[in-house]
Amino acid sequence: MNVQERIAWLRSELHRHNHNYYVLNAPEITDREFDELMYELQRLEKEHPEFHDENSPTMRVGSDLNKNFVQVAHRYPMLSLGNTYSEAEVTEFYNRVKGLLNEDFDICCELKYDGTSISLTYEEGRLMRAVTRGDGEKGDDVTDNVKTIRSIPLVLHGDYPRVFEIRGEILMPWESFERLNREREAREEPLFANPRNAASGTLKSQNSSVVASRKLDAYLYYLLGEELPCDGHYENLQAASSWGLKVSEHARKVHSLQEVFDYISYWDTERKNLPVATDGIVLKVNSLRQQKNLGYTAKSPRWAIAYKFQAEQALTRLNKVTYQVGRTGVVTPVANLDPVQLSGTVVRRASLHNADIIQSLDLHVGDMVYVEKGGEIIPKITGVDTSARSMLMGEKVSFITRCPECGSKLIRYEGEAAHYCPNETACPPQIKGKIEHFISRKAMNIDGLGPETVDMFFQAGLIKDTADLYRLQAIDIRGLERMGDKSAINIVHGIAESRQIPFERVLYALGIRFVGETVAKKLAKAFFDIDNLMATDVDALVAVDEIGEKIAQSIVTYFNNPANVALVNRLKAAGLQFTLSEEKQGGYSNKLEGMSIVISGVFTRHSRDEYKELIEKHGGKNVGSISSKTSFVLAGANMGPAKLEKARKLGIRIMDEEEFLTLIS
Ligand code: IVH
Repeated sequence: MNVQERIAWLRSELHRHNHNYYVLNAPEITDREFDELMYELQRLEKEHPEFHDENSPTMRVGSDLNKNFVQVAHRYPMLSLGNTYSEAEVTEFYNRVKGLLNEDFDICCELKYDGTSISLTYEEGRLMRAVTRGDGEKGDDVTDNVKTIRSIPLVLHGDYPRVFEIRGEILMPWESFERLNREREAREEPLFANPRNAASGTLKSQNSSVVASRKLDAYLYYLLGEELPCDGHYENLQAASSWGLKVSEHARKVHSLQEVFDYISYWDTERKNLPVATDGIVLKVNSLRQQKNLGYTAKSPRWAIAYKFQAEQALTRLNKVTYQVGRTGVVTPVANLDPVQLSGTVVRRASLHNADIIQSLDLHVGDMVYVEKGGEIIPKITGVDTSARSMLMGEKVSFITRCPECGSKLIRYEGEAAHYCPNETACPPQIKGKIEHFISRKAMNIDGLGPETVDMFFQAGLIKDTADLYRLQAIDIRGLERMGDKSAINIVHGIAESRQIPFERVLYALGIRFVGETVAKKLAKAFFDIDNLMATDVDALVAVDEIGEKIAQSIVTYFNNPANVALVNRLKAAGLQFTLSEEKQGGYSNKLEGMSIVISGVFTRHSRDEYKELIEKHGGKNVGSISSKTSFVLAGANMGPAKLEKARKLGIRIMDEEEFLTLIS
C-alpha cells in the first residue's frame, strides 16, 4: 500500500468506527486502537499536505447528532482532549507546558468520567439549555431529558455569573446500569454494552419519562463564560459547587510532576470503588490566563491532556471450558472462571473465541488466567500466569471434535478460525437460534415472541422450524407456562401480521450465512424474487455490487440443500412475501428532475458508475465540471482541492454519499 492508499484506508476505517461509536453505540475497537489509527492519519496528513481532505475524520471531533432533536450551535466549540497512555507522555506534556509558559504553574488533576458529555447554559441562575457534543460545533438540544437528572440543578443559588456555560459528563452509575440490564434481559431486549452507551442511549430517548426512570447522574468539570469569578479553574469549580452544581470532590490542585503521578497511581486502583465508570485522569493547567497563553491546536487544548488507564485486568482460576453453539452452527469456547471482580462487575465467564486462541495460550484446566474487559460486556482471556502452575497441572484444553448439542462431527472451513456444527436442520440450538433470528426486530419483527417463548414452544414440540410458526393456533399455546388467552391470541396475531413483511426482510430472516440486512436488500433488488435467486449461480451473484465470492458461495450452498428449499416452499405456502414490491422493482423517482450533478472523489457505498446511473434513473443529469448551473456536487473522499474551491466560490452545495442516498430514497 502506498501512502495515498494508506491514508484513504485509514479515513474509511475511522469514518466507520466513528459511526459505530457515535451513531450506532456499538464500537468494534477499543479507544486506544481508535486513537492509534487517528494518530497515524494525523501524522501522514501532516507529512503529505497534498492529500488534504476537508472531510477527513481528523477534521472533526466526532458526531452524535440525532435527527429527532433540534440542533443548537455551541457558543464555544466542544473540543476533545489529547490522549496519553504512559508516564513518559505525561512527563512530555508537563515539560512542554513548562517550556511554553516559562513561569510557575499549577495543574488541576481530575478524574476522567466515562459517560457522555453535555454543555449546560445557565442564565440568571436558571438552566436554559442542555446540548450534547454533537460534532463539536453543534449538538442536540436535550434540555427536557436533562431536566430529569436530579443532580443537575434547574435553579442556582449564591453569587453566580449572569450568563455562563458549564460542561460535564452524564453518567449511568454502575448500580443503575446493572439493574437496567437485568430488566432488559428479562424483557428479552438487547443489553447495553457499558454504562457509557446506556447513558448516551438514554439521553437520546424521545421520551423523557424513560430518562427519568433510568437514574442518570452527572459531574461537571469545565466552566466557560465572560464573567467567571476567578483566574483559577479549580477555584471556579469550587465556586460552581457553592452555586449548587455538582462538581467532583476528587479534583486536586498540584504543583509538581511527582504529585501528578501520585494522583494517577492512587486513582488507578481507587477508582474501582467509585459508583460510576472512569477511564482515566484529566490534567489541566489551572490558571485561565495561562490556558489562554497556551491556546489550542486544531482539535484540542494545549493546556490539558487525558491520561487513560490500562484496560482493567483480573487474575482468576479457569475451572473448565464449555462450548456454545450459535444459530449458524459456530461453536464458541467459553471459559468458566472462579467469580472475580472486574471493572465493577462480577465475571464468571469469558470468551475464548476459537481453537487457535486456546492453542496459542497453551491453556490447561486449573490455570490462573488474566481476564480483561476492554469497554465491552464480554470479557476475554488475555494470558496465563504460568508461574502459578504446580506439578499437578490440569489437563490441556483441546478443542472438541463433536458438537456438544447433537454429537455431529465438527468441521472447519479453509481459512476460517471457527469450528462449525454442520447439522443445520436438526441441532437444537441452531434450530432455536434460527427461529430467534427469524422473529427478531430487524427480521420478521413478531410481536410478543422472544427467545424464551421460542424455547418453550420448541420444548413443547410445537415448532421445529420457522415455517411451523405459521401453523400455530391460539389453542395450541394457551395454557403453556405464563401464557394466558390474551398473550396466545397476541402471538398468533403477530405471526399472521408478519406475512406482510417485505421480501428483503424475509430474505434476511432466513438467516443465510453472511446475508445481513444490507446484502439482503441488494439481493432482493437484483433478483426481484426468490425463484430467480434460487436458480442463480456464483458468477451472477458476484456481479451484484458488494456481493463477494464468500457471500455468493454461501447463498448457493444454502439453496443447494433440499431441506432449505423445502423450508422456503413451506414459507411461501404460508403466504410470506417472496417477491420484491412493485414500487421497489421500479424503485426510481423523479426527485433529481432538471438537476445537473457533478460527481467527485472516492466512494464507499456505490461505485462512481453506479452513482451516475442512479442520478440518471432519478431524472438528473451527471455533468463533468462545476459551473453556476451545477445543482450540487456529490462528493466522496479526496475530492480534488480545485473543485472544492470552485464549488465553495459559487456557493454550490456539497453532498456526501449518505445525504445523497437519503435524498433519493
Ligand atoms: S475537560 C477542552 N474534564 O473527556 C477540554 N473532560 O476527550 C474539555 N471528560 O469530551 C474537556 N472527564 O466528555 C474534561 N474531568 C474532565 C472529564 C472530561 C471526562 C470527557 C469529556 C470530553 C472528553 C475529552
